[in-house]
Amino acid sequence: MTGAPRRLSYGDYLQVDRLLSCQAPESLKAGAEAHDEMLFIIVHQAYELWFRQILHELDRIQQDFAASPVADEHLGRITAGLSRIHEILKLLVGQLDVLETMTPAGFLEFRDLLTPASGFQSVQFRLIETRLGLADALRIRIDDQSMSERLAPEDRDKLKADRSPSLLAQLDAWLSRTPFVALGDYRFRESYRAAVIAALTRDASSVVADAAVPEPQRQADAAAIEKALGNFRALFEPDAAASTWRMSAPAIEAALFISLYRDMPVLQLPFRLLQALMDIDESLTLWRLRHALMVERMIGVRPGTGGSSGHGYLRATAEKHRIFIDLFHLSTYLLAGRDLPALPEDVRRRMGFSYGAA
Ligand code: HEM
Repeated sequence: MTGAPRRLSYGDYLQVDRLLSCQAPESLKAGAEAHDEMLFIIVHQAYELWFRQILHELDRIQQDFAASPVADEHLGRITAGLSRIHEILKLLVGQLDVLETMTPAGFLEFRDLLTPASGFQSVQFRLIETRLGLADALRIRIDDQSMSERLAPEDRDKLKADRSPSLLAQLDAWLSRTPFVALGDYRFRESYRAAVIAALTRDASSVVADAAVPEPQRQADAAAIEKALGNFRALFEPDAAASTWRMSAPAIEAALFISLYRDMPVLQLPFRLLQALMDIDESLTLWRLRHALMVERMIGVRPGTGGSSGHGYLRATAEKHRIFIDLFHLSTYLLAGRDLPALPEDVRRRMGFSYGAA
């Protein structure tokens, strides 16, 4: 006998019963339930669900980005996916407000029961970092151990099993293939290089001449501009002293070109893509800072359950674990419209919308 087809229900579809059976407070097991532990668990689980969604977005973004050339029709959805990740990260920063309704004393009720578990061991968080492009060599070490050395072997294996190239490496390859930076007789680097060096040299002279600023400050500002000039030269002179760029010189050059001539129709979407990557870097950094502040509020300067120095370590990651930092540093080398070398007419024409053109 065949019955009526089963009608899908909300609970079945979302497996609500399973989901609600996943909260098991350690304090309850120990015989004295700490009220706030449920909040602590649910907030962490909500994070892991959102991490999963971020990785799901990265899967498609990176698959699209792996093509060479990247299909024109995929560029829009790559950018949309990056913007979605940014929105999720904003939500994740906001979620800490809910957790901060727990008092430090409320946390103390169950904190000791959690040792040595720690958010440090979140495999999905580590995957997001590495998939975005945080290289192991750039990570802060704890007790002279790398991040992965501190993970349990099974978690380390999960990280190792992910062989995806990083988004940063894919971005580098994509940018390096940008046409237009060298088209016909036009060479962006040649027209632009002199204009930037002139603008920065002018900045340095006006800083030094500004009598309203105390001498030591003037010297420090001039030295910072000199350092920026050195970094800029390193893009054009392969033998220049070591630079601080993480991306290759052709990629930086293309990113500069896109940022400067962003209003040209063909560059508008690539520009939005670069902006979305900066949004992600910024919101991830905000999360790191916000999490570090919350940790200071909850445990002061005590070490973490995962064995780091706690708040001090977390603050340092906000500065050191930036991923798309080069894109931020490009702003040093942007020029005001009046100083920007004009594009040759044929380059402009080829970067515009030319419906019906022969
Ligand atoms: C009372 C709340 C929290 C406290 C006191 C806390 C404390 C800490 C501490 C001290 C660390 C450094 C590693 C260690 O030594 O344990 C850490 C790392 C971490 N925590 Fe939290 N945490 C809290 C909430 C959260 C939440 C809600 C999440 C969300 C998933 C989270 C995710 C992480 C991650 C991903 C790391 C690794 C950060 C890195 O190494 O860059 N934490 N946490």
